[in-house]
Amino acid sequence: EVGDTDYDLIVIGSGPGGYVCALRAAQLGLKTACVEKRATLGGTCLNIGCIPSKALLQSSENFHEIESSFAQHGIMVEGIRLDLARMHARKAGVVDANVKGVEFLFKKNGVTWLKGAGKITGPNHVEVDGKSFSAKNIVIATGSDSIGLPGIEIDEKRIVTSTGALELGSVPKHLVVIGAGVIGLELGSVWHRLGAEVTVVEYLDRIVPGLDNEIAKSFQRVLDKQGLKFRLGSKVTKAETTDKGVTLTVEPAKGGEATTIEADVVLVAIGRRAVSEGVGLEDVGVELDDRKRVKTDAHYATNIPSIHAIGDVISGPMLAHKAEDEGVALAEILAGQAGHVNYGVIPSVVYTWPEVAAVGRSEEELKADGVAYTVGKFPFTANGRARAMAATDGFVKILADKKTDRILGAHILGPDAGTLIAELATAMEFGASSEDVARICHAHPTLNEAVKEAALAVEGRALHI
Ligand code: FAD
Ligand code: NAI
Repeated sequence: EVGDTDYDLIVIGSGPGGYVCALRAAQLGLKTACVEKRATLGGTCLNIGCIPSKALLQSSENFHEIESSFAQHGIMVEGIRLDLARMHARKAGVVDANVKGVEFLFKKNGVTWLKGAGKITGPNHVEVDGKSFSAKNIVIATGSDSIGLPGIEIDEKRIVTSTGALELGSVPKHLVVIGAGVIGLELGSVWHRLGAEVTVVEYLDRIVPGLDNEIAKSFQRVLDKQGLKFRLGSKVTKAETTDKGVTLTVEPAKGGEATTIEADVVLVAIGRRAVSEGVGLEDVGVELDDRKRVKTDAHYATNIPSIHAIGDVISGPMLAHKAEDEGVALAEILAGQAGHVNYGVIPSVVYTWPEVAAVGRSEEELKADGVAYTVGKFPFTANGRARAMAATDGFVKILADKKTDRILGAHILGPDAGTLIAELATAMEFGASSEDVARICHAHPTLNEAVKEAALAVEGRALHI
C-alpha cells in the first residue's frame, strides 16, 4: 500500500538542479517531493547567487552608464544620486518573484515541498526534521557553499562572501576582493560602478583561470581601463579587523616581502565547495571523490543504485544551467527515457560589462590535446551596431578544426556576449563548421554580425576588416 510518505522520487535541495529535476519528474508522472531547508525555494542561484547578482549588475550598470557615457550621446544629466536602499529593495523583489515562481510551479505540477533539512537514512529513506519518508529513488542536489580562507573569519559585514557582498548597506570606500574569478569580478564591478575603489588580489598571474588566455588578457585590459586594480601573483596571509576596517597582509605567491592593504570591506571569492556533509552520506556509505563531491556514473547514480546526484555537488562546472540540464536528464533516465547532457557544449558567461562568454575548448586546451586548429577573430570596433551603441571593447574568436572546419570552441569578449554565444553553442550542437555559420544570413546591423565575420575570418575572408 502506498501512503502519504511514499514517493517515487525524493530530491534533496531545491536549487536549479533539484527543482528542475523535480518538475521534469512530475511532468513524466513520477510522484515527487523536494526537500528544502531554506525558507524559500530556488537554492543558491535564485536566493543568493545568479539572480540577485544580475539584479545588482543591471542596476549598477544603469547608474554607471548615466555617469560615464550618457554625455557622449548628448544626454546631459545632473544631480544623479544613488538610493542604495531602493536598489536593494528592487533586487529583493526580483528574488521574491523568482522563488515564488518556483513554489507556484511545484503546486502546478504536483511536487510536494518537504520543508526542513533532509537526511538520507537508507537507500530508500529520507528523514526530514524527524519524520521518515520512503522513495524508490533519491536525488542529492544539495549544491555548494563558499570556501573560506584559513585564519580569516567571515562576519558577512566587513569580511564577506558573495552573500554579504550582495547586501552591503553602504558603498565601501575601498573594497578588496580576494580571487579574480567570476564572483570577484562580477561583484567587484557592481561596487566599483557605484563608487568604490576596488583592488583584486589574485593568487595566479592571470584572471579567471579556465578562460582562453587571449580573451582573459584583453578582459583584464578592459577592467584596468575601467579602474579596477589588480594585484596578481599575490596571496593574502592575514586579515585583522579594526574599528575602521580590515588590514590585510599580502605576500607574493612565490614568496617574498609582505605588504599591507587597508580595506573597508573584504570579499573572499576563492571558489565554492560541494555540500556533501550533514546529508547522511557517510552513514549510508555514498562514495565521495578527493574534493568531497559525490561520485556518480554517466547516469548520475552513486555507488548505491537508488541514490543519485546532480549539480554543484558532483563534478563539472558549478553553473546553474549545467545543474538544470542534469536535473532534466536524470528525471528522464529515472522515467525510463534516455536523458543526456553534452558536456562539450556548456556555455559559461561572466556578466560584467562588457560580458565574457565561452563555449567548447580554449586555444590552450586544443594545444594541450594536440588538435590542429584555425582561428577566426573579429573585433567589435569594426561592427556597426557596436559603434552605434558605443560599446566597441572586445572581439569574437572562433576556433575550428584545421582539417574539417568543425567549430571546436568560441570565445567572446564584448557587449551581450552571453546572448551572442548561444548562436555558436547551437552551431556546435549541430556539428556545424565555421563556413556553415559564415553562410547564415545575419540581420544588419546586429552584434551577431561580428559572430558571422569571425566565422568568415577562420578562412581569411572577413569582409569588414
Ligand atoms: P544550489 O543552488 O546550491 O541549491 C542547493 C539547495 O539545497 C540549497 O537551497 C540548500 O539550502 C539545499 N540543501 C542543502 N542541503 C540540504 C539538506 N540537507 N536538506 C534540505 N535542503 C538542503 N551560475 C550560473 O550559471 N550563472 C550565474 O550567473 C551564476 N551566478 C552566481 C552568483 C553567485 C554570487 C553565486 C554564489 C553563484 C552563482 N552561480 C551562477 C552558480 C549557481 O548558483 C550554482 O551553480 C547553482 O545554484 C547550482 O545549483 P544546485 O541545484 O546544484 O545547488
Ligand atoms: P572561481 O573558481 O571562479 O575563482 C576563484 C579565484 O580565486 C581563482 O582565480 C583562484 O585562482 C583564486 N584564488 C584561489 N585561492 C586564492 C587565494 N588564497 N588567494 C587569492 N586568490 C585565490 O570561484 P568564485 O569566483 O568564488 O566562484 C565560484 C563559482 O561560482 C564559479 O566557479 C562559478 O562556477 C560560479 N559562479 C558563476 C557565475 C556565472 O556563471 N556568471 C557567477 C558567479 C559564480
